[in-house]
This record gives sequence, C-alpha cells and structure tokens, in this order.
Amino acid sequence: MTVTDGEKIYTHYCSACHGNKGDGKGFNAKNLDPRPANHTDAVFMSKRTDKELFDAVSGGGRAVGKAAIMPPWGNTFDKGQIKSLVQYLRKMCRCQEE
Ligand code: HEC
Repeated sequence: MTVTDGEKIYTHYCSACHGNKGDGKGFNAKNLDPRPANHTDAVFMSKRTDKELFDAVSGGGRAVGKAAIMPPWGNTFDKGQIKSLVQYLRKMCRCQEE
C-alpha cells in the first residue's frame, strides 16, 4: 500500500464529506455539524500524531473523543489501507506530527 492507494480510497470514501482536496468542503459538508475536518490545515493536522489519525480513521470520531458523524472505517479497510490513508492525509497537509 502506498500513498497513491490512500488517495484512491480517500476519493471514493472520504471526499463526500472532506472534499476532493481534503479542505473539508465536500458536497455533504454543509449538512454536518460539526463540519468535517480540514485536512489541508497544517496547524490543525500537525497537532495530531500519526497514531491519532490512524485511530480516528479506524475507530471513527467517537474513538478519539470527537463527533460520531465521522464514521469508523476499521471494518471496511485493513491496517495497510488505513496507513496509506494516513500517508495521504500527511501529503495533503504537507505536515508531520509535532
Ligand atoms: C459522513 C461524513 C464523513 C465521512 C464520509 C468521513 N468523515 Fe472524517 N470527519 C467527519 C467529521 C464531521 C469530522 C469532524 C469531527 C469532529 O470535529 O468532531 C471528521 C474528522 C476527521 C478526522 C480528524 C479527527 C481529529 O483528530 O480531529 C480525520 C483524520 C478524518 N475525519 C479522516 C477521514 C477519512 C480518512 C475518511 C475516509 C476513509 C473520512 N474521514 C470520512 C466526517 C466524515
């Protein structure tokens, strides 16, 4: 699994809420409260460790003390796929964990 795999998965499964570019402006975003996270926001994203991002994707918002509208994906994707998603999140924010 590579960052390209993560990008493909993201486009299919995440962009409706988070937007094609990860800016949090997917077509579904205006219906959601809270709004989907902006994955291009380096200040926001660098405050998360890779493990926290992994846990948020795998277990959903509820697993990291966030809103449950962020769905859990741990039954849809295997660990390698979720790691590739984390790589892609890091590509979009152009940031690393602090
Ligand atoms: C149904 C809409 C929806 C879909 C689909 C969705 N998300 Fe989210 N996501 C959200 C919302 C809403 C939040 C903000 C939750 C909050 O701030 O409490 C969020 C937050 C996040 C966060 C930030 C958690 C944090 O630490 O603050 C990450 C990372 C994330 N989503 C990744 C993904 C990935 C990767 C996918 C696709 C596999 C995905 N999301 C699909 C709605 C969605």
